[in-house]
This record gives sequence, structure tokens and C-alpha cells, in this order.
Amino acid sequence: MGASSLGEPATLLVTCGSALYILRVTEASFSVPPSAPASVERAKRELRRQLGDSKLLEAEEAVARYARDESEAEAEPPDVVVLAESREDILTTLAIAERFRVPVTPRAGGTGRTGGAVPVARGIVLSVSGMNQIREIDAREGLAVVGPGVVLADLQRAVEAEGWFYPPDPNSLQTCQLGGNVAENAGGPRAFKYGVTRDYVLGMEAFLMGGQALSVGRRTRKGVTGYDVTALLVGSEGTLAVLGDVTLRLIPKPASVMTLLISFASLTAAAGLVEAATAARLVPRCFELLDRNTLAAMRAEGNPIDPRAEALLLVEVDGEPAACERDAERLAALADDLGALTVEVAQGEAPRERLWAARRAMSPAVRKMAKHKLSEDVVVPRQAMGELLSRVARVSEETQIRTVTYGHAGDGNLHVNFLWDHEEERPKVERSIERLFQAVVELRGTLSGEHGIGVLKAPYLPLEQSPQLIQLQRELKRVFDPQGLLNPGKIFPRVGHGAC
Ligand code: LAC
Ligand code: ZN
Repeated sequence: MGASSLGEPATLLVTCGSALYILRVTEASFSVPPSAPASVERAKRELRRQLGDSKLLEAEEAVARYARDESEAEAEPPDVVVLAESREDILTTLAIAERFRVPVTPRAGGTGRTGGAVPVARGIVLSVSGMNQIREIDAREGLAVVGPGVVLADLQRAVEAEGWFYPPDPNSLQTCQLGGNVAENAGGPRAFKYGVTRDYVLGMEAFLMGGQALSVGRRTRKGVTGYDVTALLVGSEGTLAVLGDVTLRLIPKPASVMTLLISFASLTAAAGLVEAATAARLVPRCFELLDRNTLAAMRAEGNPIDPRAEALLLVEVDGEPAACERDAERLAALADDLGALTVEVAQGEAPRERLWAARRAMSPAVRKMAKHKLSEDVVVPRQAMGELLSRVARVSEETQIRTVTYGHAGDGNLHVNFLWDHEEERPKVERSIERLFQAVVELRGTLSGEHGIGVLKAPYLPLEQSPQLIQLQRELKRVFDPQGLLNPGKIFPRVGHGAC
């Protein structure tokens, strides 16, 4: 992408391949607002006065922990971290931040993959991890009200103890927190059958810059009053409001679950099972696909995987026990027809966990393969997955940047990980990412299925979305946050940001 500023009020020319986009943007909508050191000092003094020292972190080492997530997004370390314990703490912080024009980066578990919670304009990091109470599980209505700092796995255990189920299951479920899940509209393997976080959020309390609280949404399952502001805030990556208590819809806990681990001699055959199963109207709750490079990483970690295998599929069915067994048998039969090498079936917590262990350990295993890892989460229509995988292989051959691909194949959502060791390889990595995204858009897919745009994908947004749509979203942002102080630098491309 080439970008150049053409004078007032700032017209941005963006070229992608042969397409030329003209974006008209104002300075405030793309620049990370500067805050004068004196304003920051005054804001800190006021935070100390109103919140007390115990809720603030200022030491370099302490704030550094709040300046990163699980991506390689680079931070501008915050001037101060606020450890909010209540809605009042959030309101106070947002009022002070606006008064002194200091940027605020909201943060929950910090497990994001695109830098959404990474501060890029210093200022305040507003941590909601202390708001970790499950306020209510209404077993009769099937809903839960949770603080934004509740750890996902804790919520899942609590509702399952009452016979209910909260399906979204990002891989970081043992440490990620609900506020972040909602802000990023987190997904996970079970999204194939059950959908993503947005499908379960009924309402929330939202806090606006300046310190105004809004009650958004409802407690009922149905409701069509006014615009769906709840849906807008879910996935808004902390750029519109800071989220407080969230009201979640629950569904009955499935009576039983069975897991199948199936190995194939080719990726095509593995992808073929996803096709065949969906054509047969089978709806497992997940279809996790792992490519040969991923298997190499797992073998290197001592996982005993059939040496002939070039791809693995982890499939899980749930429901009434008889239906589960029947579906598992049908899947195994389809896998046989496609020449599967091995089919392992597990029922019960411990054996199932054994099959999942390798998948869960995979991200750290892949991380060990190189000094740097950049993980994308593109989505293409299921039928285009084979084409995308061969294009990824071609790109990797051309750029010599290694890739490891795995993901939620039922949704066509693939994590293409780029691996490299030396800083001078970075331009080749960027070229690989551009090529991947171009392929995704050509195949009528989308840049992000579950990790959001954050800072890392912001330069690429114009590849998928029209200038008009981006402009409309900038205008929406301005309605919520006229000064551009809330989570600046996220989602929207900035002038001078290279790459298309
Ligand atoms: C996963 C994360 C990276 O699926 O989304 O492992
Ligand atoms: Zn994922």
C-alpha cells in the first residue's frame, strides 16, 4: 500500500494492487493524540487523590506487565496503570482522562493476539481484572451476569455446576477474561456449532469517555428495541466504551461429549472430511485442522503422532449419548472412506483431555520453532480452504518464510502462523502477510475471524473494507469518543502505515 497525505483536511490516497482508494479523514480520526507531560502529571495527581495510591501502578517494571499481550505488538509504555475494582473506579478514571486529555487503553486478561490491549500512546492503562465477580447465575432464566475481570474458565465451571453451558472457548480460556472476550468478540473451536461471544451477550453496562455510564441491551432472550448497540459494542475492541458487568445468555449443558482424533496422509483428505460431514448435515461442535508443519512442531515436543500423518483433524460431537455415538460412528465411517490413517475416539473427561492436550500445547510448541511468530486468523468460505492452503504454501516457497497452519476448519477460520528468526526477514514477512490477505479477500473471506484488528492488522483494513465503510466507522467512533482518547491507534489505518 502506498499512502500519501494530500493537504487539508487530510485526504489519504491508498493504493492496493491496481485499486486506488481515496480516504478523506481528519487528523483526529487517525492520529494517536499526544498528551502533554504536564497534563499527564495533573491527571496522575488527580487519580491519586480520587482513587488512592493502592489502585495505581507507576513503576517502570510494574507498568511494563500491562504493556503487552500475546502478540508482537509494540507498546508505548503507559504513564500509569489503574487497577479498577469497581464501576466507580472506571467512571472516575474516564472523567479524569477526558478532563486532562490523556489516552486510555482498557485491558482485561491481556491474552489478545493483535495488540488490542497494548497501549500505543502512553497515557493510562485501565485494568478491569479486579472486577472478577460472578454477580449472578440465574438458573431459572438461564443467564449469568459477570464482571469484566472474570476468567472464562471460572465462569464455565460455575455455570456447568448448575447444568448450564457457556460455549465460547478461545484457547486462552484458563486466563482470558470476559471483558476482553466481549471487546474482541472471541471465538474458539466450539464456534462451529455454537457461534461466538456476540451470540451470547444480551446486554452490558458500558462506560463512556468522560465518565458516563450506559445500560445497554436487556436481560430477556428476545428484544428488538432501538438500534442494537450491544452488538456494536461487542467486538469494538475497547475503542467505543469500557465494558463493565456483562449479561450472558446460557444454554443447557450437553449431556455427553465424544472426541475423535483422526489422522490423514494428506491435508486434502482431512479437509475432505469437513466437506463430507457438512454435506451429510452432521454438525460436530468443532473441527480442528492441523497441517504437516504443525504436526512437526508437535512431534518435536514429544507427541506420538503417526509418522505417516500429514494432517490431523480433532472433531468433537455432543448431545444426548445415543445421538453422540451415532454421529461419532458416522464421522468415523466417512473418515474411513476418505482413507484416514487412524481414528481414535474418546469419551469421558480424562481420555478426551488426552486427545486435546496436544492441540492446547500447540501454540507454545509452534512458538519454540522460531524467534518470531505472527499468527493470523483469516477466514474463507469453507470450500475455498483448500485453495487458500495451497496459496499459503506458494507464498511460503516464494518468500522463504516458514508457515504453520491450523485452525477451526468448520468455520473456514485458519491460523496461519509466520515464523522467522532474523530482523532482516521482516520485509519478507510483511510481503507474505499482504499476499495472504490479498488471497483471502479474493476468495471472499475476511481478515479476522476471532482476534480482531487491533494494531497489527489496522494497516490492512482497506484491503477488505471500502473507504466509505471505514469512514462510517470513524464517524461512529467520534460519536462515542470525540477526542479520540479511548484505545487510540486501534482498528483504523494510520497515515504512513506501510503495507497493503
Ligand atoms: C487458537 C487461538 C490462537 O485457536 O485462536 O489457538
Ligand atoms: Zn483460534
